[in-house]
Amino acid sequence: MGFNAFWLTVGLASGASAACTRAQLEDAATAYVKAQAAGKPDALLLGPNVSYVENDVQIDIAKGVLSQAVTIDFNRSIFDTTQCIAFTEITAATNKHPYVIDTRLLFSDDKITAIQSVIADAGDWIFDATSHLKWAKQEKWDSIPSDKRDTRAVIKAAGDAYLDSWGDGKVAVPYGTPCARLEGGAYTGDKSPSTNTCKMPEFPKPFSAGNRRYVIDEELGAVDIFNDFPFIDKTKPNGTSSMNFIRVETGKIRYIHETTVCSTKNCGR
Ligand SMILES: *[C@@H]1O[C@H](CO)[C@@H](O)[C@H](O)[C@H]1NC(C)=O
Ligand SMILES: *[C@@H]1O[C@H](CO)[C@@H](O)[C@H](O)[C@H]1NC(C)=O
Ligand SMILES: *[C@@H]1O[C@H](CO)[C@@H](O)[C@H](O)[C@H]1NC(C)=O
Repeated sequence: MGFNAFWLTVGLASGASAACTRAQLEDAATAYVKAQAAGKPDALLLGPNVSYVENDVQIDIAKGVLSQAVTIDFNRSIFDTTQCIAFTEITAATNKHPYVIDTRLLFSDDKITAIQSVIADAGDWIFDATSHLKWAKQEKWDSIPSDKRDTRAVIKAAGDAYLDSWGDGKVAVPYGTPCARLEGGAYTGDKSPSTNTCKMPEFPKPFSAGNRRYVIDEELGAVDIFNDFPFIDKTKPNGTSSMNFIRVETGKIRYIHETTVCSTKNCGR
């Protein structure tokens, strides 16, 4: 059964306003990765007035990265059945134009209503797609056994504590040991256990990463947080497009990926 036929069947069987199932979101993420590989957004079941946003700017989908064929080396997705949102991280290191693409797919009535991406390429914050690929594919973000799963609240709180700690070093962040951070292409997970840590220093105050938009998956123990990251890009004092993709195991942070977009080379740093 093709993707569209699947969605049609689901729509007829469950009524137009049904909540999402994990299978629906999984199929949508698979279709999204294929659409990006082909550069063909029309292959997705888009709602009538889909909004397409790259780095917080709404643009014509036909002019976006999703309309370019991109060689994809690795992808990882999480699924929020409560909010009907799928999140996918794509690493395109061997593509002629390397990218790291972090995308939220929002649904309503079984159709995609919004596609929102943080898209990094050369010149963005310590961007290195080859290194991103090397480390991202070695990490294990497997399904967590049902008796060991954290609640949505615990997973969200772990992610929020990490972001809050940037502005207030007194916030207790539940870092695991080890905890590996992949920031652009820089990785802490190849260090000895004592320095394999995600701990971040405080940024100059006042500092607050606002406009947080969450995707939470209890089964994979993950949260993705799109946010406006201040300070780093001098031309965007209120924050530049950024996201943190975080894996939590029994309440502790195991992995963090950060993608941050710069309006000038490496945010002028
Ligand atoms: C479509 O989206 C645009 C921009 O967000 C909005 O102004 C317009 O009202 C929408 N049209 C419909 C039919 O929802
Ligand atoms: C995306 O990842 C899945 C799971 O690892 C894999 O089966 C699929 O081939 C990947 N898609 C592309 C286009 O690389
Ligand atoms: C930053 O936010 C403040 C307060 O909302 C606003 O007055 C200002 O214009 C914003 N600056 C930029 C560069 O967007």
